[in-house]
Amino acid sequence: MHEPTQAQPALPELLNDGLARVATARTTDELRALEREFLGKGGVIATLLAAVPSLPAEQRRAAGQGANELKSKLAEALAARERELQEQHLSAELAGASFDPTLPATPPRTGSLHPLTQVTRELEAIFTSMGYAILDGPEVERAYYNFEALNIPADHPAREMHDTFWCDRAGSLVLRTHTSPVQVRAMERLKPPFRAIVPGKVFRQETTDASHEHTFHQMEGLVVGEGITVGHLIGTLKTFLREVFRRDLEVRLRPGYFPFVEPGFELDARCPFCTKGCSVCKQSTWIELCPCGMVHPNVLRAGGIDPERWTGFAFGLGLSRLTMLRYRIDDVRHLLGGDLRFLEQF
Ligand code: DAH
Repeated sequence: MHEPTQAQPALPELLNDGLARVATARTTDELRALEREFLGKGGVIATLLAAVPSLPAEQRRAAGQGANELKSKLAEALAARERELQEQHLSAELAGASFDPTLPATPPRTGSLHPLTQVTRELEAIFTSMGYAILDGPEVERAYYNFEALNIPADHPAREMHDTFWCDRAGSLVLRTHTSPVQVRAMERLKPPFRAIVPGKVFRQETTDASHEHTFHQMEGLVVGEGITVGHLIGTLKTFLREVFRRDLEVRLRPGYFPFVEPGFELDARCPFCTKGCSVCKQSTWIELCPCGMVHPNVLRAGGIDPERWTGFAFGLGLSRLTMLRYRIDDVRHLLGGDLRFLEQF
């Protein structure tokens, strides 16, 4: 029972046999098979180790050590042979015609700027070059700034033009329905004379369709100074149009009513896409571009500015609309729809 078993060959023979077979293995599959045979569960080494407890006490130590040495030597040889095979494989590929290291790699997928961001940045560059500061204001706005300060008191019918998302029962907070509230915030913060633009998101409680969205983008413009006139307003907007459409566009002013400007206008530009009428201008050759006007004295007063000394103009560019014109996008809902098939085109 305690006689050394002769069923297993001696350790040196096992080692030599193993090393020789590892050295001549030609594939990683062969190496895996050898690994299983020697090092695996129920393999040669496991069997040797399992037999140790049944050996005479004085032999156990040497037998255990021997088996473990065999194990580590074979593991080392397996790893070394595997590296060798990989190197051979690589140099064979490099030498062969099938591998062309000059081929371009698969390009990584990159994102792109949203069309609204692109147009916003372009307009910011145009207006900052004319000395405008870029401001922002809160999207959850006090009803005071959204309405009262803009000369729209509570009972004013103009409130009905703004389908408002109210944020509290008291009626003191709204999701801003336009970027105009930042006009008064700007007046409170900046001393005239100043020029500022305010790009940002606005919200209307509206049924959505191809030209209406509950969330869209505007860019407010405000200039306050001494002797500012309608002439400055027209000159500024023509300059801006020339930059955006890269040529002079004929413009016209129609009267428009907005409580915070007096006089108020709608600025139209000749359709940049046609001469005889097209779907963009609804066959009229004019596109409505931008409501604007001279800042109402009540608004200047709300901003702490003396209307006897200072005058100003304001305009409210529809950023979403301008982006649609620019890229010929036919449905405003694409803009914030988050569909990659749409976004990947920019
Ligand atoms: N805030 C207005 C709106 O969203 C647009 C507007 C009209 C802005 C005239 C202005 C302006 O600055 O002068 O309906």
